[in-house]
Amino acid sequence: MSKPVEIKPVAGKLGVLTPGLGAVATTFIAGTIAARKGLGKPIGSLVEMGTIRLGKRTDNRTPMIKDFIELASLDDIVFGGWDIFEENVYEAAMHAGVLDKDLLNEIKPELESIKPMKAVFDPAYVKKLHGTYIKEGKTKMDLAEQLREDIRSFKSENNLDRLVIVWCASTEVYLQPGAVHETVEAFENGLRNNDEGIAPSMIYAYAAMKEGVPFANGAPNLTVDMPVIQELARQNGVPISGKDFKTGQTFMKTLLAPGLKARLLGLNGWFSTNILGNRDGEVLDDPESFKSKEVSKLGVLEYILQPDKYPDLYKDFYHKVRINYYPPRGDNKEGWDNIDIFGWLGYPMQIKVDFLCRDSILAAPIVLDLAVFMDLAQRAGMSGIQEWLSFYFKSPMVAPGLYPEHDIFIQLMKLKNTLRHLKGEDLITHLGLEYYD
Ligand SMILES: NC(=O)c1ccc[n+]([C@@H]2O[C@H](COP(=O)([O-])OP(=O)(O)OC[C@H]3O[C@@H](n4cnc5c(N)ncnc54)[C@H](O)[C@@H]3O)[C@@H](O)[C@H]2O)c1
Repeated sequence: MSKPVEIKPVAGKLGVLTPGLGAVATTFIAGTIAARKGLGKPIGSLVEMGTIRLGKRTDNRTPMIKDFIELASLDDIVFGGWDIFEENVYEAAMHAGVLDKDLLNEIKPELESIKPMKAVFDPAYVKKLHGTYIKEGKTKMDLAEQLREDIRSFKSENNLDRLVIVWCASTEVYLQPGAVHETVEAFENGLRNNDEGIAPSMIYAYAAMKEGVPFANGAPNLTVDMPVIQELARQNGVPISGKDFKTGQTFMKTLLAPGLKARLLGLNGWFSTNILGNRDGEVLDDPESFKSKEVSKLGVLEYILQPDKYPDLYKDFYHKVRINYYPPRGDNKEGWDNIDIFGWLGYPMQIKVDFLCRDSILAAPIVLDLAVFMDLAQRAGMSGIQEWLSFYFKSPMVAPGLYPEHDIFIQLMKLKNTLRHLKGEDLITHLGLEYYD
């Protein structure tokens, strides 16, 4: 046992603000309210349903995570957000069509009372959307100031103790980090000069850092994944994490690929295609937004399989990812994978996966966990990149010079060991020799 880390107590309410009140955010909000009222269970959420083993296997100590470490509870959460459409959360959830109308009607008054704040938005960065509920300002710095004011008033009007932001808005066009994202000075000059390298999501991230609010990024945009935000996060003691929620097909990939590698089975090719018909699918129909997603999805296999270390197995495997917008499916995505593998003496085999998933049903518990764990991180004095939350992301952020860990089982071990470390419990190595002494 080591000394536990000092963690500020959970006192008062936690505000969870989401830029974007679309399918994912409204499914998270309505689901959390429904779970609070006992109308459903928060399935998929580690903070609500997960356990953690402590000590030896013979100790029989496996509490619920929420009983082991003090976390914000469902009842403590107050919801808010921004969107480019004025619909309240009830209307937006009906529109998204993920949850049953009957369920939404049961909690209609709570959902109707959550109304978006005007968004910072520019169609140059999300080409398929044309919103009407948008802030105006001469410079991007003016817009950042307005967001900061929103954050402060949401906190005081709702009497909140703490806040967290989880980006649930649309995927922006692909941008690469440049000089404007390097330093605080360059970025602030860029905000004043309307530098086109600064996308709306970065303005939210900047506002969050200046207000000391943790920020998790659910989309593949750069947003917090750039030096300037990392510097501000450290300066102001704010946790950041990202990027791109790991759901659907990439979730499957990070289950299967470590298994193939564990058994040293080779890979010739992995072809992934998807059909989906929600607004996210429509946005990704634009090649520039798709490029952000593609880069985030493609990295996974390369890092898990390490072709440089296993050239006989993984050199030159062909990896292709496609997303097709197909309106009749709505939020119910279908993801196909065709995996060409080879075994003993190079004999070929195939695996086919057909995952008929529900995108927002998979993403909602991730939003809840990230909100609660990012709040924990801040109370525990952890600032900057939260690599222990890689478990939730397709393209996990890591310190410069480190490669990201994509294997979901290593990610989960890292997450739980971080919780053990915070509480001064022994880390679990799975060595287990002591049982045979
Ligand atoms: N559902 C999943 O499984 C999953 C997985 C990984 C990542 N994501 C990402 O999560 C995000 C949300 O997905 P979704 O299915 O809810 O999409 P959605 O289109 O239903 O919702 C996004 C919402 O964001 C709003 N928006 C766009 N730009 C905005 C801005 N600048 N400020 C405020 N609001 C803005 C849109 O009007 C829309 O209501 C997307 O970026 C998506 O790529 C989703």
